[in-house]
Amino acid sequence: MGLKLGVIASGSGSNLQSIINAVKEGRLDGEIAVILSDNPEAYALERGKLSGIATEVVELDRDSTREAHDEKVVAALKKHGVDTVALAGYLLMVTPVLLDAFPLRVINIHPALLPSFPGTGVQQDAIDHGAKFSGCTVHFVDEGMDTGPIIIQAVVPIRDDDTAKTLGARILREEHRIYPQALQYLAEGRLKIVGRRVVLDPQSPASGTLHNPAVSS
Ligand code: GRF
Repeated sequence: MGLKLGVIASGSGSNLQSIINAVKEGRLDGEIAVILSDNPEAYALERGKLSGIATEVVELDRDSTREAHDEKVVAALKKHGVDTVALAGYLLMVTPVLLDAFPLRVINIHPALLPSFPGTGVQQDAIDHGAKFSGCTVHFVDEGMDTGPIIIQAVVPIRDDDTAKTLGARILREEHRIYPQALQYLAEGRLKIVGRRVVLDPQSPASGTLHNPAVSS
């Protein structure tokens, strides 16, 4: 059965676009029932309108709690029949109110190889640390900051002349590949959570080892 997705984005929504494209091209079994943002100016909302997808704005009310905010978010998602929530550049931490409404159905993408470099500004963090690789991670969301069980990761090399911008662009290209794929695995019912591990059934392991810089023998 296909997913009924609610995509939540605060900004440009290029990951949202990769999901829209995957649905349109038949690579992702499901539909985007609604695009929700806390930011009325988010270009993600425009992308939704351009594709004829329903949009909702739930702005953060500084005088109310984050739980009260998430109650409004859950109501908006349920109104559109959402069964799976994809966070795509959502800048707010979610609370148990949202997680309990969609148990094991809230997914996020993060522009680093978790558990290294959680949080924000992580492209620069990876460069500053001197890491030779970074990448991106699609994971189930739990109550922690970028701590939930990992579904797929993609690795990209860090070059000596990289800036946060050049590295971020290289990572983003891979984000656009792994996010729709992770959602498709979920749609196919192939993801089993065993403790902290997400097992893909049947498995489809990566082959090959990466070195950076190159190794001559
Ligand atoms: C991406 O780098 C994603 O990993 C992070 O926020 C950024 C969103 O970019 N969570 P976009 O709005 O999808 O272009």
